[in-house]
Amino acid sequence: MKFLPYGQHSIDDDDIASVVDVLKTGPLTSGPKADEFEKLLATVIGAEEAVVCSNGTTALHLACLAAGVRSGDVAIVPAITFLSTANAVRMCGGDVVFADVCPATGLMTPETLSAAIKRAGGDVKAVLPVHLNGQSQYMGEIYQLAKEAGAEVITDCCHALGADYQAGGKPGDGQFEDFACYSFHPVKSIAMGEGGAVTTNDPEAARRMRHLRSHDLRRDGADWRRKEAAFDQGDSENPWYYEMQELGYNYRANDLQCALGISQLGKLGPFVERRRQIADLYAGALSASSNKIRPIDRSKDCESAWHLYPVLIDFAELGISRAKMMKALQSKGIGTQVHYIPVSDQPYYQELYGRQELPGAAEYYAKALSLPMYPALSDDDVRRVIAEILELTA
Ligand SMILES: Cc1ncc(COP(=O)(O)O)c(C=O)c1O
Repeated sequence: MKFLPYGQHSIDDDDIASVVDVLKTGPLTSGPKADEFEKLLATVIGAEEAVVCSNGTTALHLACLAAGVRSGDVAIVPAITFLSTANAVRMCGGDVVFADVCPATGLMTPETLSAAIKRAGGDVKAVLPVHLNGQSQYMGEIYQLAKEAGAEVITDCCHALGADYQAGGKPGDGQFEDFACYSFHPVKSIAMGEGGAVTTNDPEAARRMRHLRSHDLRRDGADWRRKEAAFDQGDSENPWYYEMQELGYNYRANDLQCALGISQLGKLGPFVERRRQIADLYAGALSASSNKIRPIDRSKDCESAWHLYPVLIDFAELGISRAKMMKALQSKGIGTQVHYIPVSDQPYYQELYGRQELPGAAEYYAKALSLPMYPALSDDDVRRVIAEILELTA
């Protein structure tokens, strides 16, 4: 029996060849592939700039730094997301105010954002909407509310590469954000092993993020401040000289990762198309079934990239625990996962901010179960998952 994980990368021979080519010809890092990947990604998303980095977490950290999040600043993060969205704020010394989410989509709404802004009680430095599962809703209102509060908007688009707004454009193109962050972890829309990127329409911020991802090590003489140490007699640049002017990091993506990313980006269209077909197969079968299991609500504002395919199951009503159901599915060769435990419930955040009452997040978390979703699933695989889950929820 073939095991179907909840998510999986799709790597072909041409992806492998592109990595082998870098291995044979070099350079392995800091070569031309990062620049090539950035140009391609910016074009695909419709943003002026893309800054590639080592993963989605470092993308979020770089974006928070570029947005000016510092010690004592407040940023708003929806409670249903991966740890990194909130952690990036903490990595800058900022404080997180968690927003509640819609229990039917898991997404922050204009109402839950307004409530969080009120709870923040003062200035809000940044708002980080998460395009959970590849969906987003009410981004125009969310962006406006954030701007009225004086905040920068950093969208967590780690699930949203390949999504489209119904009214035109794509998440990350700058319509509704100052910065957008992506992950290219193997279960995401494209795989780079590990990889991430920030898109922005602010070239100065992009330049700063490129410095920060590499120790803020500046080799351009035009940037140097210690003129007496930097230049030889006759004002020629000392060939070994470099300068660091603020705290930087090693967040680079190497040429192997970027070569794989370039090859994978070429397949983004078919990958997302297949994800959408699978989502339609699941939705068609599950919407017509009992009300104890249902797909998450679809956003009317965007066509999702369907990074994940969660269903909402009333486990209490069914009389079976989620753990038992996951184990039963596992024994039938079907992998599932829960995305996500509310970040506000993590002991680290509870110790910092106390217990949070976020009923929408609690309800979404209690019911969510992500079913297998990746381009290589066949229609028969999907039908097998549907049959098993319907049997367990009958
Ligand atoms: C919503 C979200 N944000 C951030 C991240 C962090 O990305 P990475 O694992 O590439 O650091 C992930 C990936 O798991 C994610 O799903």
